[in-house]
This record gives sequence, C-alpha cells and structure tokens, in this order.
Amino acid sequence: MGDTLQRLIEALEHEHSPETEDLRERIEALDRLDALMPAMDAGALLSRAQAVRQRLEAANAVQFEAIRQAIRRGEGGDLLWHGWSADDDASQAGDAYGWRDELVSGVLPFGEPDDVAALAPEMVFYQPTPARHVFDLLDRLALGVSDVLVDLGSGLGHVPLLAAICTKAHGMGVEIEPVYVQSARACAQALQLTNADFVQGDARETDFAIGSVFYLYTPFTGSILRSVLDALRAEAGRRAFRVCSFGPCTTVLAAEPWLMGEGAPAPDRIAIFRTRE
Ligand SMILES: C[S@@+](CC[C@H](N)C(=O)[O-])C[C@H]1O[C@@H](n2cnc3c(N)ncnc32)[C@H](O)[C@@H]1O
Repeated sequence: MGDTLQRLIEALEHEHSPETEDLRERIEALDRLDALMPAMDAGALLSRAQAVRQRLEAANAVQFEAIRQAIRRGEGGDLLWHGWSADDDASQAGDAYGWRDELVSGVLPFGEPDDVAALAPEMVFYQPTPARHVFDLLDRLALGVSDVLVDLGSGLGHVPLLAAICTKAHGMGVEIEPVYVQSARACAQALQLTNADFVQGDARETDFAIGSVFYLYTPFTGSILRSVLDALRAEAGRRAFRVCSFGPCTTVLAAEPWLMGEGAPAPDRIAIFRTRE
C-alpha cells in the first residue's frame, strides 16, 4: 500500500505537472489518492500526498469555474460534453459512477440537501443517472429548440440541467421532494439558464401536454408508475412523443403496447421508446 502511494505521488510530483494534466487525469488521480490515503500513517509521505491532492483540487476548481462561466455565456455544453463518445466509459458497469459524474458535480453548483422527507411507498429514493448515460441519451435524442425534455422524478435536476446546458431544448424537472427542487432551481439560476425549470409536485399531476420527451430513471413503481403510464398513453392518443427510461422500470415500459422501442434494447443504456401511431 505504502509503495503504491509512493509511486503514485512521485508520478504526480515529477512526471507530470498537475496544472497541465487534463481534467479527467486529475479526477482519476484524486480518486486513486483518496483510495490510498486513509490507510496511511501520519508522516512525510502522507504530507506529500496531501500537498499533491491540494494542487490537483485547486487546478480542478479553476477549470470548473471556467466551465461555469462558459455555461453562463451559453458555450459550456461543448466543454462539458467535449470528447464524449459512446465507447468513452464503456468499461464501467451500467449504474456505476465515474469521472464524468465528478466533472458534472464539480461544475454544477448543487446544494447538499440533508432535510429530505421520507418517501411514500412505491416512490424510489434519489439516485442520479450516471452522467455518461445522460450524455449518451442527449447524443441519441438530438434535441432541437422546440423540444421539452421532462424528467419525471428529477431529484437534484442533473438531467434537465444537462439538457439545458448541452442542447437548445428546454429541460424540465418534476420532483416531489421540495429541497431537491430548491437546489435544482438555485443551480439553474446560478448558471443563468433560462431554458431549465423545475416543478415541485407528484409526477401524477404533471401537465403531460408539454413534453416532447419524458424521462424516467425508475422514480416510482407499482400503482404510481401505472398511473403515470396511463396518463402518458392518453396523451399518446393525441400526439407523438418519446419516452426514455433507465433501470428496472424499462421492463414495464417495454411491455406497453402503445410504445415502440428504438434500436436494440441494452441493459446498460438508457432505453428510448416512441409512441405508436
Ligand atoms: C432514482 S431518482 C432519479 C433522479 C433523476 N431522474 C436522475 O436520473 O438523476 C428518483 C427520484 O424520483 C423522485 N420521486 C419519487 N416519487 C415521485 C413522485 N411520485 N413524483 C415526483 N417525484 C418522485 C424521488 O424523490 C427521486 O428524487
């Protein structure tokens, strides 16, 4: 363990300059340091590790702020999304988080709500969709200026916020937990996003007429999911739209006769469905 940390610190101190490393390498180096440092005894090696850690974090903070400023100018999507490809993080398991999640949470000024109420039965606790899946979804959806992406059960709002930052579409979140909604609204305001908004309430009460794309990361199950799908089915009788899903609710959506899957189903990817004519 000590040898591994020593080699890592030497590499970070001498072989590369943290200031010139790219963000991904710095985030991954920080992850490796964080995994090794807790087991270290106080001493010279730990002090060097802490110093390297501080330099990496300071360099990241500068880059995160630069991306936030670009977002306020309407140019941040390219920086967040830059270099993304479907194969990018293909080695990661479906719902695992990676360096892109740390990039997104470093850039988006989320609060850390701790006053969260207990959820009613069938309502699923908050867990964000891994960022690489959100980028993959946005790439495949190719949203335009007239699109409205509605995340049903939006939590802290990653999906509508990334849609608003990275595309010309409108991102909307519907979330039952008020403190998550407050955090998402504050984030949109801090980034001066005029194409993202958040509604606090039960997804069953959503105005389903406004979305061109609905997204569900298994926010609820059982009778609540049934009721939302029935409302979407009624809406599908009036017009065409897309429904996207991640997690166990995808199996339920795939069995809906009014929805048609787009492309081959893949368990490790967000599923996209179209309404049938
Ligand atoms: C698995 S998280 C998904 C978060 C977000 N969609 C994402 O992918 O990052 C499910 C969210 O749904 C919310 N939720 C659960 N039941 C709800 C309901 N009936 N109406 C609105 N939101 C609900 C939870 O509070 C939680 O934030």
